[in-house]
Amino acid sequence: MDRIRIVGGNELHGVIPISGAKNAALPLMIASLLTDDTLTLENVPHLADVEQLIRILGNHGVDISVNGRRERQGESYARTIHFTCRNIVDTTAPYELVSKMRASFWVIGPLLAREGKARVSLPGGCAIGTRPVDLFIEGLQALSANIEIDSGYVNATAPAGGLIGARYTFPKVSVGATHVLMMAATLANGTTVLGNAAREPEVVDLANCLNAMGAKITGQGTATITIEGVRSLSGARHRVLPDRIETGTYAMAVAMTGGDVILEDTDMALLDTALEAIRRAGAEITPTNSGIRVVRNGAGIKPVDIVTDPFPGFPTDLQAQFMGLMTKSNGVSHITETIFENRFMHVQELARLGAKISLSGQTAKIEGVSRLKGAPVMATDLRASVSLVIAGLAAEGETMVSRVYHLDRGFERLEEKLTRCGAHVERVSD
Ligand code: EPU
Repeated sequence: MDRIRIVGGNELHGVIPISGAKNAALPLMIASLLTDDTLTLENVPHLADVEQLIRILGNHGVDISVNGRRERQGESYARTIHFTCRNIVDTTAPYELVSKMRASFWVIGPLLAREGKARVSLPGGCAIGTRPVDLFIEGLQALSANIEIDSGYVNATAPAGGLIGARYTFPKVSVGATHVLMMAATLANGTTVLGNAAREPEVVDLANCLNAMGAKITGQGTATITIEGVRSLSGARHRVLPDRIETGTYAMAVAMTGGDVILEDTDMALLDTALEAIRRAGAEITPTNSGIRVVRNGAGIKPVDIVTDPFPGFPTDLQAQFMGLMTKSNGVSHITETIFENRFMHVQELARLGAKISLSGQTAKIEGVSRLKGAPVMATDLRASVSLVIAGLAAEGETMVSRVYHLDRGFERLEEKLTRCGAHVERVSD
C-alpha cells in the first residue's frame, strides 16, 4: 500500500492549481440519473471517490465517457466527463457499493423521482461518526414517498402519479439531504419548499446545474429553497466549482511553513470564514485575477479559536487541517467540532509528531509547541490524513503517512502540487 514520505522544513513558494470540488462533483454526477439526455461536466477532479461513483452509476445504466483533457504544464487534469442515462437499468444500490462511499446513498433521490422506486442500502457507520439517514427518509416521506426499511435496505416507492411537492423543514442542516430532496423535487408534481436547507456552495452548484437542465429552483444559497416540479429534465453542460476545502488546505499549509503561494482557479468568496481564521493566524491573504495569494513571512503563527458550523461558518472539512496549523502556534487555541461527533481521530496522530492537544467533549485545546518532530503516522479519514501532511511539512525530519488511500479519495495529485512549490513530499510504493 502506498505511503507519503515528507521531509519537513521547506517553505512553500509557487503556484498551486485548485481542482474541481469533490463534494460538488459527486452530487452533480448523480444528477445525470434524472435525464435521458447527456449531462456534460467539466473540471471533474481525478479522485478515487469520483472513480467509485462512475462504477456505481454504470450499474444503474449511465454510459460514461471521459475526454477533453485539459493540458497544462505537460499534464492532464480537470477532466470533462459525459454522462448519459437513456434508461435506468437497475434501481437497486447494493451494500457492497454504498458502504464504500456514503454519497452513493444519494442516488435514492433521482431513482425515486424518475423511476418511482429505489432500493438503496443503508450506508452504515464511518470513521467520523454514526451519520444516520433519518432526514432523507423524513424528507422523501414528506414528498409522499412510501418508505420501508428491510434487511439493511431502504425501499422507497412513489405514488402512482409520481412524487408530490410539499413543504419540508429540516430539523438539522444536512448537505446530503438537501441535495437529495432538491433532486427528487425537480420531477415532483407541484412545488416543494425546503426550509433550513444547507447553504453550502456545492448545493448552489447543484441547483444551478439542475436549472441548466430545465429545473425550476430558486433560493439556493439561502435557507429556503423552492423547487417547482417539471415533467422532465434535459441535458446540460456545467463546470464543477473550485474545491474550497482543497483551497483552504493549501492556504493552511502555506500559513504553516511560511512562503508565498498563488492558489489558482479558485475563489475567496467560497471560504471567507476559513480565510479569516488563517489571516488571524498571521498569513496575508489577497485576491489575484484567478485565485488567491497566501503569504507568511517571518512572523510566527498566532493562536486562533474556531467552532465548526454549517456554511457560511468554519467548515468541518477544514477542522483537522486548522488543528495541524495550530499545533505550532505561539499560544493556546481551542477548536470545537459541532457537525460530527467523532471527528478528532487526528489528535492522537498529531501527538505522535509532538503536538500538545487535550480533548474535552467536542472541544480540543491545543498548546502550541515551537517544534514538531517527524514520525510514522496513519489516518482514519480523508481530512485527518491531510492534517498530518500539513504538520509533517513543518516537522523536523521524516514523517511517513500511511493509508494514503484516504488522501486519494479527495486530493488530486497532492504530492505533485506540493513538490512544485518546494516541499519534500514523495509517494512511496511498497
Ligand atoms: N445527519 C443526520 N441525519 C441525516 C443526515 C445527516 O443526523 O439524515 C447529521 C450527520 O450525522 C451530521 C450532520 O447531520 O452530524 C451533517 O451531515 P451532512 O448530511 O451535512 O453531511 P453529508 O452530506 O453526509 C457532506 C460532505 C462531508 C461534509 C459534510 C458537512 C459530501 C460528499 N460530503 O456530508 O464531507 O463533512 O457534508 O459539511 O459532500 C469530506 O469531504 O471529507 C466530508 C466528510
